[in-house]
Amino acid sequence: MSELSGKNILLGITGGIAAFKTPMLVRLLRDGGVNVQVVMTAAAHRFVTPTTLQAVSGRPVRDDLWDAAAEAAMGHIELARWADLVVIAPATAHCMATLAQGLADNLLATLCLATKAPILVVPAMNQAMWSSAATQRNVSKLIADGVSIVGPDEGDQACGDTGPGRMVEPPAIVDRIRQRLVAPVLAGVKPVLAGVKVLITAGPTVEAIDPVRFISNYSSGKQGYAIAQAAVNAGAEVTLVSGPTNLAPPSGVRMIAVQSAHDMFDAVHAEVADQNVVIGVAAVADYRPAEQAPQKLKKKSDKMNLLLDQNPDIIASVAALKNKPLVVGFAAETEQLIEHARAKRVRKGLDAIVVNDVSKQDIGFNSDYNSATLIWAQGELALPFQTKDELATSLIRHLADIFVSQLAITNPESATN
Ligand code: CTP
Repeated sequence: MSELSGKNILLGITGGIAAFKTPMLVRLLRDGGVNVQVVMTAAAHRFVTPTTLQAVSGRPVRDDLWDAAAEAAMGHIELARWADLVVIAPATAHCMATLAQGLADNLLATLCLATKAPILVVPAMNQAMWSSAATQRNVSKLIADGVSIVGPDEGDQACGDTGPGRMVEPPAIVDRIRQRLVAPVLAGVKPVLAGVKVLITAGPTVEAIDPVRFISNYSSGKQGYAIAQAAVNAGAEVTLVSGPTNLAPPSGVRMIAVQSAHDMFDAVHAEVADQNVVIGVAAVADYRPAEQAPQKLKKKSDKMNLLLDQNPDIIASVAALKNKPLVVGFAAETEQLIEHARAKRVRKGLDAIVVNDVSKQDIGFNSDYNSATLIWAQGELALPFQTKDELATSLIRHLADIFVSQLAITNPESATN
């Protein structure tokens, strides 16, 4: 576990029975050379003692925003900056509600607001509390804010119930910590996009006909989500604007969920001023029903006409901005791939376009595999048949190489990587 050596982890412990396992977690981290600062909430004291945690962590436990002596030694803002990672284990339903709302009514919640470090939340609670609408709403909000949720596991619970809600065991938590902090480096991925802000669109869009019917397409979102993960692994700050998919958001991305092409257009334009790179992977519906019926449409005759209006072209509108970011599009084609994609790149004003053959079964919409060609003004590069994850990693690396001078404006280090 030596690759974690020297990392600073702030471990928040909240008031759940699983808190009795946290001295073991601290011990595992300390064995790997990690500096662990424990922060307890008031309720956590009922399940585990600060004396034990101080002994295993080798540092006095922090538990009070108003502790003048502790604040004088290291103020809470300084502590928030010190952390490479914040882990909250166990995280109660109340803790998750507090974080989802952005409240700062205790030391741990305040630190979570003040830190720029990634946050891992390890929930532990009764299965009914976990499944409740409010907790699930808070989970979605936290994921959208870029927080990684670890678990919970399923099984027997201290209260006698069985179901989802058990805290993930300490060795598995350490694995997730390692993944979050060092996996990209271990996988040989250089942080070529460190400091670069990347916005990615993904998934299909859904265009409502009436309250129960819609027009959409078969896009699974897999390639867009894989590119978002590859960009995070390369050190980028990633915003993912996604139509409805069945996929879990990649860890570490800020997620904005949308339905229609118009929603996606608005979300992208609300964010774009801040972005260095925009990659359009979404399969945006080209047309939407001209009118959206407020009530379910009734059957009337044998035939029915549906009048459609064209949707705005999102990626082209970004490429047309005065201060445009680097813009990369995708082209889904079924014939004359390269010719159509070259023309599409120029027509939409894109810096680069990635073209793939959507008529092929093995690389189709729902497949885990893909092959493509990357086309830019000065060159073309084949990205051979491979998994969508591998293709995403390779695409990010090539984009960073090809556009190194544009990206180096925001990321001086990338020029030397
Ligand atoms: N795109 C977009 N907004 C649209 C349509 C497409 O941002 N309204 C983006 C896609 O995300 C993709 C690129 O444009 O990056 C190309 O999408 P594609 O469906 O291949 O092209 P179309 O513009 O729809 O052209 P056509 O259907 O005529 O091939």
